Formats: sequence, structure tokens, C-alpha cells
Amino acid sequence: MLGNFSYCNPTKLYFGEDSLNYLNTELPKYGENVVLIYGGGSIKKNGIYDDVIKILKDNGKNVAEISGVMPNPTVEKLYEGIEIARKHNVDFILAVGGGSVCDYAKAVSVSVNCDEDPWDKYYVRFEEPVCETIPVGCVLTMAGTGSEMNAGSVITNHSAKMKVGHVFADEKIMPRFSILNPKYTMTLPHYQMIAGIYDIFNHICEQYFSGEDDNTSDYISEALMRSVISASRIANKNPEDYEARSNIMWSATWALNTLVAKGKTTDWMVHMLGQAVGAYTDATHGMTLAAVSLPYYSYIMPYGLSKFKRFAINVWDVNPEGKSDEEVAKEGLKCMEDWMKELGLVMKISDLGVTDEMIEGIADATLIMTGGYKVLSRDEVVDILKKSM
Ligand code: NZQ
Ligand code: ZN
Repeated sequence: MLGNFSYCNPTKLYFGEDSLNYLNTELPKYGENVVLIYGGGSIKKNGIYDDVIKILKDNGKNVAEISGVMPNPTVEKLYEGIEIARKHNVDFILAVGGGSVCDYAKAVSVSVNCDEDPWDKYYVRFEEPVCETIPVGCVLTMAGTGSEMNAGSVITNHSAKMKVGHVFADEKIMPRFSILNPKYTMTLPHYQMIAGIYDIFNHICEQYFSGEDDNTSDYISEALMRSVISASRIANKNPEDYEARSNIMWSATWALNTLVAKGKTTDWMVHMLGQAVGAYTDATHGMTLAAVSLPYYSYIMPYGLSKFKRFAINVWDVNPEGKSDEEVAKEGLKCMEDWMKELGLVMKISDLGVTDEMIEGIADATLIMTGGYKVLSRDEVVDILKKSM
């Protein structure tokens, strides 16, 4: 491992079937004005809302709500939430939902006391907050993004056709605590479950496919990928399998809580392509990644051949005997493709609503990253998008 880094992750996690009880341990640490943030209503249907409200009331909190946070939360919704939080003189933000709700809560946290436009400041200029931020806690209901233990926040601006993620540098933007109960994820529709699973897997790939040095982070990544593959196959057949859902939830957190990026450059090009597709289609995040992944990885494979060979052998158990490096690497990607199809992921951006006319605009909206095995040109981005149709 050749990189220099610092590591600190201050998010306290409570994991398991009884984990919501620990909300009683955490809430007394914060002021009485709480803003509860949630999505389109799944938590009302599955009873999580009632349980959370009871604990908030038992702890004497004065609760305001921001409801209806949509998947891929928008900048307009952010402005609306900031007003509610300001009026309530918020001391603490409790996010109850998936990555969209957690990301949105962080965006509100850094914006309540900000006297500039938060979209311009955080998502266009990528500045850090200079104002006081509001502490965030999270009760997670969907496994995928890792937002429960990182400082990332993705907001979509439809009029600018931009979907932008800011990973804040300051650890205090990470949730102060997150409650992870795998049972809560059991009511997810199959489509969201598998989209979340692919999101987890791709987060690991984004950090794994970079660098040439022998790096502990890559060994951790391989183990995580093996766990995701194994658990996903079980959960895909039997979504009620608690052990599999539990492993998926825990892998999601470790896939993107900064650990496996340590000491490395990282790629993130699949996410840049996927986010640009998302800006045009509002499609489910994990599906946008799935639909561009094979054309992208097939294209960059020759530039990172030894890592793709290692991926084939260590993650997919490909037998390298008597085969060229390229054959082994290709076999690894074929195994990944077969697994993606077995889960039922969307494999084409045209199936997410992308039309030929959108390709140039999507290419313009794609940020080009420099940490992977190949820095793409705009023409190469267009080519990969066309191959993803
Ligand atoms: O809104 P509700 O009614 O709650 O329904 C949600 C939503 O429709 C539903 N859902 C969540 N938990 C459920 C449930 N339905 C039934 N039972 C449950 N227990 O699932 C749908 C999707 O939820 P969402 O939060 O949008 O999904 P996800 O967790 O995948 O989050 C996606 C967002 O996170 C961003 C994405 O770009 C996207 O905006 N990301 C955030 C990252 C980060 N913070 O580091 C990294 C990721 O790469 C990603 O970009
Ligand atoms: Zn992702």
C-alpha cells in the first residue's frame, strides 16, 4: 500500500433486530426540536413511522416533519425542507428511509444556517459549509448507498439536467449514529432490493479497479464482493432470509464508509455515467449503474488487465490454468454479467428511458474522473453510452 491517508469514521452504528431501542440512548444527547425526514410513505405502511414517533414523544421531543422526499431528491424539495427546518429552529435531524432520505437530511443539515444558495455552493462549486451544521441521525430502511455511514449527499436539479453528489470533507456531516435493522429492508420491492445490491457491488468495484500496488483495501474489497454475491443469490430466491438480508445491509455500509478507498486512487466513472443517465431519466440509481457497467468495464479492461484477472480469480473463482490473462479477465466479466442477469437487473439504458437523442446531452452531463485505469475522452463516453443502449 503506497498511499498516505487519515482515517476517522465517527458514525456510531446500532445493528440488528432490536437496534431501534438505541434511539432512546441517542436522542437525549440532542436538543428538543427535531425534524423527522422521510420518503413517500413506505414507513407509514410498514409501521416504522409509528415506532419512531413513539420514541421521539417518549423522549419529550418537539417534532416537525419533512415528508415526501422522493428517490433522487430534488433541489426544489431541498429548498422546501430548509424552510421547515428553519421555522422549527431545528436542533437535530432524524432521517428515516433509504439513501435518498439520508442524503437529503445531510443537505438540509448544511443548508439551514447557510446564507448562500446551497445548490450553487455545495453542488456546483463543491464548497464546504462554513456555517453551523445540524447533527443528523439515521434509521435506515434500504441497503445500498452507504449514506448511513458517509458524508455523501446526492441532489438532482432537473432544470439544469444535473445529478450531483458532494462528499463533504468534514466528518461531522456523517450521521452521528445510524440504526440498521435488516428486518426493515424486508418490505422493499424486489426491484429496489436488487438495485440496492448492485449499488453495493459497484461501490466496491469503483474503489477496487484502480492502482497497481499491493493494497490491503483490495483484499477487503474482494471479501466484501464475495459476501454480496453469496447473500444476493440467497435473498433473490428468498427475500425473507434474514441472514442474507443482514449480510447485504452490513456489506452496504462497509462498501462505502471510506474504508476500502484508503491508500488508493478510486475510479467512480460508472457512477458518473449512471448519475448523468439519472439526471435525464430519474431512473433508480442502482439500475443506472447496472445498465452502463458491462460496456464500461469491457472497454477499460485492457488498461487494467492484471486487476481484472485478479477480480476473475479472487471474486468469481475463475480457473486461470491454460488461459491467457485476457481470457481470464473476460471470463470474470462474463461471470459478473451472468450474476447481474440472474438477479434481474436492468442491462440497458434504453430500458430506463434513454433515447438516441439524449446521448449527447448525457455525455455532456457526465463528469470525467481521472483515478481509474483509463481517463475517458468525451467521444469514448458517447461510445460507451451507445453500447449501453
Ligand atoms: O419513499 P418511500 O415511500 O420510503 O419508498 C422508497 C423509494 O421509493 C422505497 N423504500 C425504501 N425503504 C423501503 C422502501 N419501500 C418499502 N420498504 C422499505 N423498507 O425505496 C425507494 C428507493 O429509495 P431510495 O432512498 O431512493 O433508494 P436508495 O437507498 O438507493 O437511495 C438512492 C439515492 O442515493 C444516492 C443516489 O444517487 C440516489 O439519489 N446515492 C447516495 C450515495 C451516498 N450518500 O454516498 C452514494 C450512492 O452511489 C448514490 O449515488
Ligand atoms: Zn451508488
